[in-house]
Amino acid sequence: MKPIKVGLLGIGTVGSGTYAVLKRNQEEIIRRSGRGIVVTMIADRDLVRANSLADSGVVVTDNAQDVVMHPEIDIVVELIGGTTVAKDLVLTAIAQGKHVVTANKALLANHGAEIFSVAREKGVMVAFEAAVAGGIPIIKALREGLTANRIEWVAGIINGTANFILSEMREKSLPFAPVLEQAQKLGYAEANPTYDIEGIDAAHKITLMSAIAFGVPVQFDKVYIEGITRLTQEDISYAEKLGYRIKLLGITRRVDKGIELRVHPALVPERRLLANVEGVMNAVVVKGDAVGATLYYGAGAGAEPTASAVIADLVDVARMQTADPAHRVPVLSFQFDALSDTPILPMEAVETACYLRLQVIDKPGVLAEITRVLADFNISISAMIQKEVVNEGGSVNIIMLTHKNLEKDMNAAISRIEALPVVTSQIARIRIEELNGN
Ligand code: HSE
Repeated sequence: MKPIKVGLLGIGTVGSGTYAVLKRNQEEIIRRSGRGIVVTMIADRDLVRANSLADSGVVVTDNAQDVVMHPEIDIVVELIGGTTVAKDLVLTAIAQGKHVVTANKALLANHGAEIFSVAREKGVMVAFEAAVAGGIPIIKALREGLTANRIEWVAGIINGTANFILSEMREKSLPFAPVLEQAQKLGYAEANPTYDIEGIDAAHKITLMSAIAFGVPVQFDKVYIEGITRLTQEDISYAEKLGYRIKLLGITRRVDKGIELRVHPALVPERRLLANVEGVMNAVVVKGDAVGATLYYGAGAGAEPTASAVIADLVDVARMQTADPAHRVPVLSFQFDALSDTPILPMEAVETACYLRLQVIDKPGVLAEITRVLADFNISISAMIQKEVVNEGGSVNIIMLTHKNLEKDMNAAISRIEALPVVTSQIARIRIEELNGN
C-alpha cells in the first residue's frame, strides 16, 4: 500500500517532535498501521528553521494554504494553535477532503461543533488526542476503552503549569508570584500565562472530555472557570494540615439534573493518587459504572510526549482511511444522531463541600454570628479550627470545612458573612472534591 502523505502546519516544539518520532519509529509504525506515514510538506513562518529540520524531498513553505490545498496531501496536522488562522486552515483542509489531526484544544473547544459537523458531511476524520493531556491517551480511553460504561465523572489535573506552581508553593512554602516567574523561566508557562493560571487551558480540555464522556455537544461557553491566581500559600498549608492537597481540577460529572462542567482549585484528600501528582505531570481519573475508577497519568506537554499522541492519531487515520465513514469510531464516541441535550448545569446548581478561611475579630459571640448565617442557608460544618495567629489589626483565622452544599447557598452565605462587622477580610472559599472511586 502507498504511504499516506502528511502535511505539517507548524514545526515548532510539537511539530519537530512529531517529525523526529515519526522518522525514528517509522518501521515500528508501519508494522502497526500497515503502510508508511510520511511528512511530505511542512509549512512554517520560520523557513530557516523548517528547512534545517526537513529532509531532502520534503517541500517547505511559509504559506500554509499551499499544504491544505495540495492535492497529494491526505492528512493535515495542525500545530499552529489559536482559533483564527488555524480554524480557516482546518476548515479548508476538510473542504478539500483531507483528514485533520490537531493538538489545538482552544480551537476544538470553541469551534468543535462546527468543525466536527463539516468533517462528517465531508466523510473525513478529525483526530485530537494531543489536545488533551499531551501524551496520555485519554481521548482513546474515553472514546473506545470505556465504551461499555455509563461514565459517572471525570476529574483531572490537566494543566501542567498550574500543577507545577501549586506543587512548588506547597513543597517550598513559596507565594504564587515568584513560582510563576520560575515556571516561565523553565519554559513551562507561556510568556502570557493567562490560559494556564486562569484555568482556561484546563477548561478547553475538560470541555472536550465531557463531550466524549457523556455524548453531549462541545459547549465551552458553559464551563465554570476559576484559576489559581487567588490561592495563597497559607491556604495550601492549612489544607495540608487538614489532610488535603490543593489541585487545579477539571471536573465533569453526571448528576440527576444535568452535567457539571467546571475548572477550579479543589482540596483533594492526600491519600488519593491524584493528590500526589506533582510538578508538570498530568493525570485524569475516569469513573465508570462497570469498571470503577481508572487513572491515567503521564506527561501533559512536551515535544515527544505530545508527538506520541499526534502520531497515534495519524496511525488511526491511516488504518481507518479506507473504511466507510459510517463504520469509523464516532468523533465524540457516541453516534452523531445519539448526542444528548442533557443540560450543562450552571455553577450555582452544583453541590460541593467547601473549605472556608475567615479572618475575624477575636471576641465572644463571633463564631455564633457566623454559624447562624451558615445555618440559615442549611450549611453544615464538618470541621473547624481557630488558629492562634494574630493578623495585623488583631484578627484571627478560622478555618471551616463544610458538608456538601449548593453553590448558590454558599455564595449567599459568604456575602452575608463578609458583611458582618466582625469579619475583617474577604473569605477564602475552596471547594473540596473527595473523588471517592467507590
Ligand atoms: N500549557 C499546557 C500546560 C500544556 O501547562 O499543561 C499544553 O496544553
